Amino acid sequence: MTSVTVRVPAKVNLQLSVGPPRDDGYHDLVNVFHAVSLFDEVTASDDLSVLPGDLVGGVVSEQVTIMVGVEGESADQVPVDASNLAVKAAFALAERAGRPVSARLLIRKAIPVAGGMAGGSADAAAALVACDELWGLGLPRQELMEIAAGLGSDVPFALLGDTAVGTGRGEMLVPAPVTGRFHWVFALAEGGLSTARVYAECDRLREATGEQVAWPQADEGLMEALSAGDAETLGKTLSNDLQPAALMLCRPLARTLEAGREHGALGALVSGSGPTCAFLAESDTHAASLAMAMEVAGVCRSAVTAFGPVPGATIVRPLP
Ligand code: C5P
Repeated sequence: MTSVTVRVPAKVNLQLSVGPPRDDGYHDLVNVFHAVSLFDEVTASDDLSVLPGDLVGGVVSEQVTIMVGVEGESADQVPVDASNLAVKAAFALAERAGRPVSARLLIRKAIPVAGGMAGGSADAAAALVACDELWGLGLPRQELMEIAAGLGSDVPFALLGDTAVGTGRGEMLVPAPVTGRFHWVFALAEGGLSTARVYAECDRLREATGEQVAWPQADEGLMEALSAGDAETLGKTLSNDLQPAALMLCRPLARTLEAGREHGALGALVSGSGPTCAFLAESDTHAASLAMAMEVAGVCRSAVTAFGPVPGATIVRPLP
């Protein structure tokens, strides 16, 4: 048996500015992505045997066989069929192989499912890198980025990692300079939120209030804080246009954000489309105490610490 394992990070959006809806149903964005040290792992192997008790689904076409299993954080909420984004990624890559290919994908989840931290997109990016290696395709990064953009708006960033400004629907990326390391607490919520539903609620709220939607622009203060490694200013400049919609759909999150601010977070915001909330801490020790305080206050399912930026999808155990 040969196998390759890829580690891939979650993301938090430091700035998520949402423009008016486009004709294709998407929104133009300025999306400052930041990869954090909360990782899923995807192993692609050529061993297609299924063990008893495995949570495994298979998808077979004439030329391609993909099996998928999921373990870890809320694994039972991840589909093990053709709707799994990692399976879609493997199929999209298989089109470039020009010969019959097969793989078994094992996804080990630590990134919250439907939590606004791009866990599904991360798994898709990891599957691209893992299958490219397993099948010996050696596609150029740029080609993997193009396949990634076809799979979802957040998938290219999961390949790239670190910190980057996304425009278009978030898939056109320019790396952003960052000095040092930022420390985070993520408050995980019960259940998830559908990204499409949160964008739709954002449009609905804007229409109801007659809000004039400006063309999204990168926040200069935030970009300067990143390049200077200035956590205090970064905390003050974090912003997310999807936050009012996420709070409308999941009201207890307002209390979660408030509790983080009360316990000294430098900044607090809903991560992406939520419901995970992100808190910027002063240091790793502050992050640990803040996470504990959030759990004791009972305002989240659990709280985890992480730091950023970290690299994108990376092979950690290559082919033997
Ligand atoms: O691209 P992805 O499949 O991750 O997007 C999920 C949903 O989020 C889209 O169907 C769309 O409703 C919404 N979305 C959006 N504008 C973006 C990105 C996502 O409206 N730039």
